[in-house]
Amino acid sequence: MAKAGLRDSAMERSIKVVNVMEKRTLGSTGIDVSVLGLGTVKFGRNEQVKYPQEFKIPDDEDVMRILDLAWSLGINFIDTAPAYGTSEERLGKLLAQRHDWVIETKVGEIFEKGQSHFDFSAKHTRESVESSLRKMRRDYLDVVLVHSSGDDMNVIHQTDALAELEKLKQKGLIRAFGMSSKTVEGGLWVVENCDVVMATCNLEYNEEQAVLDRAGVLHKGVVIKKGLLSGYAGVAEGGHGIEKSFQHVLTQPAVSSMIVGTINTSHLRKNVDIAEQYRQVTE
Ligand SMILES: NC(=O)c1ccc[n+]([C@@H]2O[C@H](COP(=O)([O-])OP(=O)(O)OC[C@H]3O[C@@H](n4cnc5c(N)ncnc54)[C@H](OP(=O)(O)O)[C@@H]3O)[C@@H](O)[C@H]2O)c1
Repeated sequence: MAKAGLRDSAMERSIKVVNVMEKRTLGSTGIDVSVLGLGTVKFGRNEQVKYPQEFKIPDDEDVMRILDLAWSLGINFIDTAPAYGTSEERLGKLLAQRHDWVIETKVGEIFEKGQSHFDFSAKHTRESVESSLRKMRRDYLDVVLVHSSGDDMNVIHQTDALAELEKLKQKGLIRAFGMSSKTVEGGLWVVENCDVVMATCNLEYNEEQAVLDRAGVLHKGVVIKKGLLSGYAGVAEGGHGIEKSFQHVLTQPAVSSMIVGTINTSHLRKNVDIAEQYRQVTE
């Protein structure tokens, strides 16, 4: 295996041995992902975000430390997006030739000069996937999701984004596609018609339960975002919000992976320890 610049070969050898976190197959895609995935908003963007604390974007060495630790603890799944500032570019640079990571990215949301706007046209979808391939230095992308603006049904029926992703899948440029949806109606459509849905599920918001249940029946991939209430679970009274949040999400049988964003190695270790308690018995 070729090495990224900051990678130490002895570490790589030991990583292979300890990479034991439970993997679940992402629906019917044949792609195996760790039950805990790594969210990477904080690798590239600190404007217009809603986390409890302000933060500095970590430098390459710190990002590499997070990536190495995550891999060594068994995480193989990363969620990114063009809208996460420099996240894709940095992953491409730091994980050059590390094609053992499963990478999920998105199309449709563009974040420029501190503002988001959306383009769900076929042309933009194609160009966005080409740009992600270039930035992440890959020949294909594992999972690409439409980054919904919130108006899911309009994006689904009035734009060409999903049809274009399906074509790119047929061409072999992506392995699986779907949507990071924001409504029950949208999520249900996605699980009927696509490979993967990214849905919200946490201690305070369970409105998308029907989406998870239907995905389970249809064997579609379910990736959870905002499972720790974007960090607010960690500041909950009594301090048990993090454990309760993992339990709440990972005991859902339809969930393939819970994507948790962190740039803190102690949090990462703690999250892996907690997630390990909800290992599904697959034998
Ligand atoms: N529309 C979309 O497609 C969409 C929307 C939102 C999110 N996402 C994806 O989902 C990922 C996760 O969502 P999210 O970042 O909004 O929220 P989240 O994963 O619910 O929470 C992340 C926050 O929790 C904190 N945290 C993590 N572990 C912790 C622990 N053990 N104790 C205390 N705090 C902890 C992190 O801070 P530290 O860095 O200090 O650990 C971070 O601020 C994102 O990174 C992104 O990849 C996608």
